[in-house]
Amino acid sequence: MSTTVPLLECKRISVRFGGVVAVDEVSLEVHPGEVLGLVGPNGSGKTTLLNAVSGLVRARGEVLVDGKRVALGRPGAIVRHGVFRTYQTPQVDRELTCLENVLVASPDRAHRGASSAFMLRPRMWAHDRVRWREAAAALNRVGLVAKANVPAAGLSYGEQRHLEIARALHAKPELLLMDEPAAGLNSTCRPRA
Ligand SMILES: Nc1ncnc2c1ncn2[C@@H]1O[C@H](COP(=O)(O)OP(=O)(O)OP(=O)(O)O)[C@@H](O)[C@H]1O
Ligand SMILES: [Mg+2]
Repeated sequence: MSTTVPLLECKRISVRFGGVVAVDEVSLEVHPGEVLGLVGPNGSGKTTLLNAVSGLVRARGEVLVDGKRVALGRPGAIVRHGVFRTYQTPQVDRELTCLENVLVASPDRAHRGASSAFMLRPRMWAHDRVRWREAAAALNRVGLVAKANVPAAGLSYGEQRHLEIARALHAKPELLLMDEPAAGLNSTCRPRA
C-alpha cells in the first residue's frame, strides 16, 4: 500500500435514484502515475460513480483531491482541482470546429481586458497563437489534427470520442476520468502514445 497522498480519494460514495441504489459505499484511491480501471456489468454504477465524483448527481460520501475535500453535487467543483473527464456518450459541440471545441473547454481570459484589446494587441495575439498551437498538438495526439477546422458534426462517433480526449488533454489535467473510452471503437482507432 502506498504511503503518498492519493491524487483522488473516494470514501464511501453512495448514490440513490429513488429506490435504486446505483452506487453503494464505494471507496477507492488513485495515486500519481496510476491507471485505475473500474470493471462491472451494464447498470452496475460505473457512470454514476463518475457523475458523483464530478458533481453531476447528488451523492453521499467524501471526495478528496490531493488531500483536499471537494464539494459533492456541484458540477465543476472538481475541475478547479485539475480533474477532468470524458463521457460515455461524447459531449462535443457539433457546430464548433474541432479546434474550437478544444479551445472553449479550457477558457483562458489572459490578455482579454480593454488594455490588451487596444494597446497590447500583439501580446494578445501571441498568447492566442500559443493556445492554438497547444490545441492543435492535443488534436494531433489523438489523430485529429487534419480535421482541426471541420465542425464536430462531421466526425464519426469514434472521432468525437477522441475529440473529447483532446479537449481534456488540452486542459492539462492532473487526473483524467474516462467513461468507457474504448466503447464503440475498433483496434485501429487508437490515440497516439
Ligand atoms: N438519472 C438516473 N435516474 C434513475 N436511475 C438512474 C439514473 N442514472 C442511472 N440510473 C440507474 O443507476 C444504475 C447504474 O447505472 P450506470 O449508468 O451508472 O451503470 P454503468 O455501470 O455505467 O452501465 P453501462 O455499462 O451500461 O454504462 C442503473 O440501474 C441505472 O438504471
Ligand atoms: Mg456507463
